[in-house]
Amino acid sequence: MLHLGVNIDHVATLRQARYAQMPGSPNAEPLILEAARECEAAGAHSITVHLRADRRHIVDADVFLLKKELRVKLNLEMGNTPEIVEIALRVRPDFVCLVPENRQEITTEGGLDVTAHASGLKETTSRLQANGTRVSFFVDPVLEHIRACAGCGADMVELHTGTFANASGKERDAEVERLSAAAELAHALGLQVNAGHGLTMRNVCDLFAVPHLAELNIGHHLVARAITTGLRESVREMLLVMGGYGG
Ligand code: PXP
Repeated sequence: MLHLGVNIDHVATLRQARYAQMPGSPNAEPLILEAARECEAAGAHSITVHLRADRRHIVDADVFLLKKELRVKLNLEMGNTPEIVEIALRVRPDFVCLVPENRQEITTEGGLDVTAHASGLKETTSRLQANGTRVSFFVDPVLEHIRACAGCGADMVELHTGTFANASGKERDAEVERLSAAAELAHALGLQVNAGHGLTMRNVCDLFAVPHLAELNIGHHLVARAITTGLRESVREMLLVMGGYGG
């Protein structure tokens, strides 16, 4: 069964739009835990949040609260920086997904250059694993990077589907081929295969040609759709569509 991790960063984006300067205000809303509870009620398998260096949406207190209160797994997305690694070691999330992070970007723009940063990634991975956290690397579907993920001791890869999501026609077919080859190799190397970025109800079925997928991480579309349907319904609909994945 294909699992769904719901990224609720944008729930915090909305809160911070008004309350960034008033942390702890009794009026601060929407509440991150309330949103997570709606996802749980719909059947989501995990909740993902990205604690960025600039704290533009999720803040430290959100991560500690979710770790304490969630009934499903917590997946912490993060850059491999000393400050955030120390927080992850204190939080002890179920999963960490290591991503490249750039202050100017609107969202994560591409996968990690695992080969270029192998020694730092390897060290962080073993520290997190020794602390009880399973570690995923967010990567483009490039075979060299997949091999490097295994070399660094990662438990999982999250394949970057942003290019797939923005392509159409033959270009999308070609990207599905690249994602499939990456998934085959990752699986053969013993890595769990996850995927995410830019996925919507409109494009997710085209991804079903990719083998060995275990979990999809989806944020923007679900939270955007929640404005009209409610979060519980948007997550429920996506899970229904994902039920069509044959593996
Ligand atoms: N996976 C990773 C590693 C991401 O950085 C993001 C965006 O925060 C997502 C998945 C979710 O992407 P989207 O919001 O486009 O669904």
